[in-house]
Amino acid sequence: MRNSEGTNPGGHVKRLVVISNRVADLRKTTQTGGLAVGLADAVRERGGVWFGWSGRKLKEPGEPKVDRIGKVTQISLALTPDDYAAYYLGYANSVLWPLFHYRLDLVNFRQEFLDGYRRVNEKFAEAVLPFLRPDDTIWVHDYHLIPLAAELRRRGCRQRIGFFLHIPFPPPDLLAAAPDNEWLVACLFEYDLIGFQTEADLGNFRRYAEEQAGATTREDGSFKAGEHSFRARAFPIGIDVDQFAEMASRASEEVAIDELRRKILGRRQIIGVDRLDYSKGLPDRFKAFGRLLERHPEIHKKVTLLQISPSSRQEVQSYADIKEELARLSGAINSRFADFNWTPIRYIQRNVPREKLAALFRASQVGFVTPLRDGMNLVAKEFVAAQHMEDPGVLVLSQFAGAAEEMTEALIVNPYDIDDMAENLFRALQMPLKERQRRQKALIARIRKQDARAWLTGFLDTLEKVRRAE
Ligand code: G6P
Repeated sequence: MRNSEGTNPGGHVKRLVVISNRVADLRKTTQTGGLAVGLADAVRERGGVWFGWSGRKLKEPGEPKVDRIGKVTQISLALTPDDYAAYYLGYANSVLWPLFHYRLDLVNFRQEFLDGYRRVNEKFAEAVLPFLRPDDTIWVHDYHLIPLAAELRRRGCRQRIGFFLHIPFPPPDLLAAAPDNEWLVACLFEYDLIGFQTEADLGNFRRYAEEQAGATTREDGSFKAGEHSFRARAFPIGIDVDQFAEMASRASEEVAIDELRRKILGRRQIIGVDRLDYSKGLPDRFKAFGRLLERHPEIHKKVTLLQISPSSRQEVQSYADIKEELARLSGAINSRFADFNWTPIRYIQRNVPREKLAALFRASQVGFVTPLRDGMNLVAKEFVAAQHMEDPGVLVLSQFAGAAEEMTEALIVNPYDIDDMAENLFRALQMPLKERQRRQKALIARIRKQDARAWLTGFLDTLEKVRRAE
């Protein structure tokens, strides 16, 4: 019997090899949500190998760099500028990212992007191969590396390989718009286990597999497609609730002073924290806050929106566009409503350390999380984890965030409906203490149940149990 610690019958500990495009800096804690944070906590604890892109672009990338950090051996590879452009900016972030977030209008398909994507996946396979041991468990992450198992198998890898998709999986009709969609999905079939964030994503995948790829599926999540047998299941990602709550409760002097000032003024804070990405619904979020101020003059000066959005992927045009749009919108709302002693929107475009974010969540009365589409959204979970249980804030959450499948006690909104968001903000600001406590209690129980550890062990236990055709 094997278990999530990866122990074989002889007691020999199986090594975990994690492969993802971005390797988190395990010494730093400034990342904003997403894969790096979710995985860093998990890997730090269990240990093993973490392989990925070093974040550097070099004409001559040379050999991978090997670092030992705590229990983790980190191996990272630089990319050539051409590979970075075609694989990362191109196929990953100008084709797969918009497509998987239901934004066909933003897809920019070019053959050289696809070629670069294939090339880098081959290079990853070549580079990691010498580090692999026959009884390793390999866990590949996210849309950048869909073909990696196929590349590893071609090079003779017989290890168990699992894949987790951190972003949504689109409905078959949308996926069909991607040239080479059959190839892409066939690459997924090379894994032993495919993990999705939600039941909805799994349902989309199953429909594609059955209807377009002739796969047969069973209730227990096993699939058969041609010669391939594998399993697919939803494993909603979570956070380390206690660790985040503890971080939030540690005194941050700056945040405490700001909170005190707001208390004296009787002013509440709505907070949003997102990478600057068009999938996060930021323009409509700003508009909803503007609508709230327009409809409820009585709360002028009594509420502020703090939006923290570090820039992201700025070399992709659609990201530069959203940045400009937001600067315009926040400027317009502020100039319309501001007073000499009140700035309605405080918009910060820098990365804020996680410790400070945690304290800011705790000092805020509303968490405003309104992506147009999101794999999970860990910010929603972090906001809840950070709250005071006796006097909690209220989470306003998009129905299109993966987190909405579990976090049903949040105020669920349609992120395309500005009036709906504005009214729910108002409702959140007025919500009686008893109701806030009741919702908080239910939400914290849910995120505790489906926390980072449950995600990690759930995935790895299932992967260890998949029967392989040896
Ligand atoms: C999302 C993706 C991750 C990615 C992160 C940051 O969370 O699922 O794979 O690492 O965004 O984006 P970046 O392009 O900076 O890696």
